[in-house]
Amino acid sequence: MSELYIGLMSGTSLDAVDAVAVSIDSNNITLISSHQEIIPHQLRQHILGICTGQATNLHDIGVIDHKLGLLYAATVTALLKKASLESKQIRAIGNHGQTVFHHPAGQSRFTIQLGDANLIAARTGIDTVADFRRMDMAVGGQGAPLAPAFHQFVFSKQDVTTVILNIGGIANLTLLPKTGPVIGFDTGPGNVLMDSWCEKHTGNQYDKDAHMAKQGQVNTGLLNELMSDPFLAKIPPKSTGREYFNLNWLESQLSKHHIPLDVQRTLCEFTALSISQHLQTLSDQPEIELLVCGGGANNPLLMNLIRQYLPTWRVLRTADRGVPGDDMEAMAFAWLAHRRIHNQPSNLPSVTGASREVSLGVLYQAPAACNNGSLD
Ligand SMILES: Nc1ncnc2c1ncn2[C@@H]1O[C@H](COP(=O)(O)OP(=O)(O)OP(=O)(O)O)[C@@H](O)[C@H]1O
Ligand SMILES: [Mg+2]
Repeated sequence: MSELYIGLMSGTSLDAVDAVAVSIDSNNITLISSHQEIIPHQLRQHILGICTGQATNLHDIGVIDHKLGLLYAATVTALLKKASLESKQIRAIGNHGQTVFHHPAGQSRFTIQLGDANLIAARTGIDTVADFRRMDMAVGGQGAPLAPAFHQFVFSKQDVTTVILNIGGIANLTLLPKTGPVIGFDTGPGNVLMDSWCEKHTGNQYDKDAHMAKQGQVNTGLLNELMSDPFLAKIPPKSTGREYFNLNWLESQLSKHHIPLDVQRTLCEFTALSISQHLQTLSDQPEIELLVCGGGANNPLLMNLIRQYLPTWRVLRTADRGVPGDDMEAMAFAWLAHRRIHNQPSNLPSVTGASREVSLGVLYQAPAACNNGSLD
């Protein structure tokens, strides 16, 4: 029997909250409607500050947690309206939350996603599943990436070896071999460095259609320096975030006399090369299909460079195989909520390094008074 779910994703790029309504049964997921809610400028700047090590305090973290909870609830309300759905029709919301720190290595391993799910459940009247990453970490995993299990659910019926590449703030890939376990990990920066540099020099949140990068030249010395970062050579399982790959990381490697346009061009080259080198390690099979999703799939220079680095690969977008690239991650969290509601495992130990399969996410039940479908 199919049920309706809502998925909410606000990723590293902090460009928007992506929301989808989907219908799910044990074999299929169907996209019904999607909506993107812009993150208000002041809230975005506040979050960016705490993500990159700016001094903060518990009051600020509490305020962000609260404001994001309200924003996510408002996003669901807007989506329901757009899709002409009522809250009582939705079985549950899967809410990723906003990662502000991801620290999967060392003695005290933790990951923090903000956005109070109690508020979402109370304001929408819909059961809400959140905190998806920490149970995987509790059983020894990285808590990331989580999308590979969903990629397997959607794309494992393909008759060729398939790789899904999500270019969000951070880039992550999933290899779906015809036999054997799924492989998946973060490859390093997706859009995060290009976005940060562009915003610093132009005030624009991202380099639309690589307009800025196209005016610069690759700085080979800088490219080599960036490529020598130890994260790139690390053996999976591995995951990373903005707390590591950020402007401070970049600026510590820049010479005094750098040219901003050349740095932007070099960052695009670096992003494409680091992704492509990881892809090349995956498989030497001639018949392989690469499906790209995430906002980076809309960057023409980045996509051309990846095609140049992988001349024998068939490079498509996930949209060519039925899943719009900008909705993929939100769909993944709707599906993860479905797995939680039905108490089914949803991490892939072969990907995250967890010691066993577990069902991810914590259920925040909608208070009874709200279960009549009222939104406020
Ligand atoms: N036309 C475009 N040209 C260049 N870059 C683009 C374009 N459209 C989108 N992008 C990039 O995509 C980014 C948003 O991508 P996306 O929403 O997938 O990332 P995210 O929010 O970090 O997601 P996640 O963490 O879930 O992977 C923007 O910040 C921008 O860098
Ligand atoms: Mg986004």
